Amino acid sequence: MKYETLHGLSIPKIGFGTWKLGGDSYADPKLESVSLTALQTALEVGYTHFDTAEGYAAGHSEELLGRAVRETNTKRENLFITTKVSPEHLQYEQVFTSCESSLRRLNMGYVDLYLIHWPRIGMKLQETFRALNQLVRDGKVRHLGVSNFNLKLLKQAQSFSETPILTDQVPYRLPDKSYVKNGVLEYCQQNDILLTAYSPVKFRNLPVNQTLRAIADAHSATSYQIALAWLVAQPRVITIPMSLDPQHIRENFESADIELTKEEFKVLSELW
Ligand SMILES: NC(=O)c1ccc[n+]([C@@H]2O[C@H](COP(=O)([O-])OP(=O)(O)OC[C@H]3O[C@@H](n4cnc5c(N)ncnc54)[C@H](OP(=O)(O)O)[C@@H]3O)[C@@H](O)[C@H]2O)c1
Repeated sequence: MKYETLHGLSIPKIGFGTWKLGGDSYADPKLESVSLTALQTALEVGYTHFDTAEGYAAGHSEELLGRAVRETNTKRENLFITTKVSPEHLQYEQVFTSCESSLRRLNMGYVDLYLIHWPRIGMKLQETFRALNQLVRDGKVRHLGVSNFNLKLLKQAQSFSETPILTDQVPYRLPDKSYVKNGVLEYCQQNDILLTAYSPVKFRNLPVNQTLRAIADAHSATSYQIALAWLVAQPRVITIPMSLDPQHIRENFESADIELTKEEFKVLSELW
């Protein structure tokens, strides 16, 4: 595994996403067993960063994550847990309620990183950060961040946060460079902010490009692994693929060790 180090932290370049684990908008009993197995596999493989949210399966993803940690006897202090407050809960009092509920579902005393999941039109960001700053002071949350924030909102968040904004979690993958084009990636790289790339391998609807396949073959890897290695190669970028398939879970973890040549990186960057 490779790591990003900043603000005294060492964060793995590849973490584990949990959207759709345990259900989509609501808990889905049909997904219970496969989701729990996926989380346990991820813990056994060696993932230490887990990304969840109060909005995932109406909180059930958090519950399953907490359960998997308990059942595998994983030490809490060896993990880096990210969760998120939903855009409909950004008022001062609601932030505390949301955080307490997440901690209860996770069965943990604190989260390492707490994000605003989405900005909301008309939100009072300063008021939200008053609550978030208090959560840090109370020890319930170690670090703060945002998600789906454009450059203007990211700078506003920085101005209201008493601690450094650790990340902006945004969509970023080979065929989606919208947060490169809007300047967020460059700003993050210049200001010690992690860009957490979500949906890094949403490739199902795309024909796998021949070039991508050739690079994958050269590394005895899959195209998905190359897509992740391309993100891993970028400074201040980390990513959080999700998978229910034990083999994919392993392959995604191992993709951090793939060393792309400068030429391969350039070719991939210009593919889409
Ligand atoms: N902040 C936000 O607004 C936001 C939005 C979206 C996502 N996220 C976070 O980012 C995480 C990842 O994003 P995502 O779940 O949207 O998309 P993703 O991780 O890019 O894609 C997940 C899909 O890719 C497949 N997959 C994963 N690894 C694979 C591999 N090695 N080979 C083949 N197929 C593979 C999975 O199927 P299998 O199960 O068959 O492997 C699954 O269907 C989420 O779980 C969530 O934690 C955050």
